[in-house]
Amino acid sequence: MFHEFFRWLQEDLGFDPDQGASWSQQFLGSFNLWSILEGTHVLTLMLFAGTIWIVDLRMLGVAFKNVPFSKINEKVLPYTAVGFAAMLITGFILFLAKPMDYYHNVWFRAKIIFLIIASINIFWFHHKVQKNQEEWDANPNPPLPVKLSAVISMTSWILIIIFGRFIAYNWFECGKPQPAFVNVFAECATTSSGIVRADAILEEGPIESAPLEAEAPSTEEDAENAPAAASEEGN
Ligand code: HEM
Repeated sequence: MFHEFFRWLQEDLGFDPDQGASWSQQFLGSFNLWSILEGTHVLTLMLFAGTIWIVDLRMLGVAFKNVPFSKINEKVLPYTAVGFAAMLITGFILFLAKPMDYYHNVWFRAKIIFLIIASINIFWFHHKVQKNQEEWDANPNPPLPVKLSAVISMTSWILIIIFGRFIAYNWFECGKPQPAFVNVFAECATTSSGIVRADAILEEGPIESAPLEAEAPSTEEDAENAPAAASEEGN
């Protein structure tokens, strides 16, 4: 849906003929900038996930049972909010280094889906579950909706962290032989001959009858060259 926009962002915006690279590509190829931002993304993750778990474990009735929920919330939540803001800002800037690649990355998509689920859970907690907080604030064993919200929160953040780490691996890149649902989920393009192209938009129309043998490398040497050829096409 947004392929063309992200392709333009990645390949055309601010293209400098002397450097042969767009702003996005210059950022990706920068000596330190990308690494510093990713380092910040990961370090603030500790602040964010570490503190939100303290709140979640109290909501589950597992830790700090004798401390009222409101006390924990009041002390810990400001750190969580700072960590969350830093993660969103650094994450968004990191995304600009390879927007088109991330857009078609299965793990990035899964991560965004769980970010949305986690956000809905926060909204539900604040607008529904927390309404009668006085009734369970000091209760060492909070009621079911509170525990449920804590479980959704912890599960979502664990998955977001795992999927975030997996983004770096191209196991399910478009153009690789893989189940059809993966191609659908990653919005890869399929030609009329059934061949999935690394490029998600069919600029030149469907590939005519591309020989199927060309898809599956027959020798070891072909297999070694195949990924390079796919990435030249520009996933
Ligand atoms: C707030 C919750 C978030 C968490 C818990 C989180 C977690 C992570 C983790 C664990 C990594 C892997 C770091 C590594 O390589 O070791 C990562 C990388 C990354 N995240 Fe996030 N992230 C969050 C938000 C975001 C957002 C909102 C975006 C973008 C809109 C984003 C974009 C990225 C990108 C582009 C990478 C680099 C992937 C790569 O090429 O290796 N993150 N994130």
